[in-house]
Amino acid sequence: MKLQNKVALVTGSSQGIGRGIAVRLAREGADLIINGRKEDEGARETLEQVRAEGRRACFIAADVGEPANCYRLIEQAVEQMGRLDILVNNAGVQKHAAFLDASEADYDQVLNVNLRGPFFLAQAFARHLRDSGRGGRIINNSSVHEELPFPNFSAYCASKGGLKMLTRNMAIELAPLGITVNNVAPGAIETPINQALMNQPEKLESLLDNIPAKRLGQPHDVAGAVAFLASDDADYVTGTTLVIDGGLLWNYSEQ
Ligand SMILES: NC(=O)c1ccc[n+]([C@@H]2O[C@H](COP(=O)([O-])OP(=O)(O)OC[C@H]3O[C@@H](n4cnc5c(N)ncnc54)[C@H](O)[C@@H]3O)[C@@H](O)[C@H]2O)c1
Repeated sequence: MKLQNKVALVTGSSQGIGRGIAVRLAREGADLIINGRKEDEGARETLEQVRAEGRRACFIAADVGEPANCYRLIEQAVEQMGRLDILVNNAGVQKHAAFLDASEADYDQVLNVNLRGPFFLAQAFARHLRDSGRGGRIINNSSVHEELPFPNFSAYCASKGGLKMLTRNMAIELAPLGITVNNVAPGAIETPINQALMNQPEKLESLLDNIPAKRLGQPHDVAGAVAFLASDDADYVTGTTLVIDGGLLWNYSEQ
């Protein structure tokens, strides 16, 4: 087991990729803090799956779009588990709107959850590590859209592009503290965020045509990469993005 005696916080882990990451880190020996805006059925299911791996788990409700909640979340996590070694900034939202029509409210929500949250959670987490004299791991769940434009999702792309640069900056500033900072960038993963797409067979087919691996990714595809980045094996890896997309991002061909 790669993560024995470690404690990990995974934001937005009541479903989807976050749940997959939480369960995988537990399988590698970590104890887990599960997070979401409120303790719902999904959160309880994640807790159950983590405990079934034989690990300790607790749930802390927090809307990570608000810095005060981010500070409280880190504080409560340390209080409840005694320490914190791994932060996975996974919570994310997306809003569909043409650039010309996008509203301030949607922009704010997307940027707050996807970028402001990771910024202040990472800050509070890094301060905790600095004060404890220990290193640690920050892993951000970005997206291929940290690179790849996505029409009708400008705010989402801006948030993920920002996360990419934030990751690089934090990696440089936090390396002397023994903290590594990396992104995972999933392509199209089968989760509730893509429910609308799943319900439209034609759109799904055209997406699959663009994916060289010819399948959607699954949460466990992302979780395996996160487990690696969280482990000692990745001790010298920092400031980078690991793309997990079946070849989608760099796919180009001519007939
Ligand atoms: N599914 C994909 O194809 C895909 C691709 C690339 C990147 N991602 C990224 O992966 C991450 C997880 O996405 P997913 O596909 O599992 O989506 P999802 O909608 O299934 O899960 C998102 C999770 O974030 C939580 N969340 C949302 N707002 C929150 C807030 N303010 N505070 C706390 N928690 C909040 C939700 O409750 C949920 O548990 C996101 O950052 C997303 O941008 C997903």
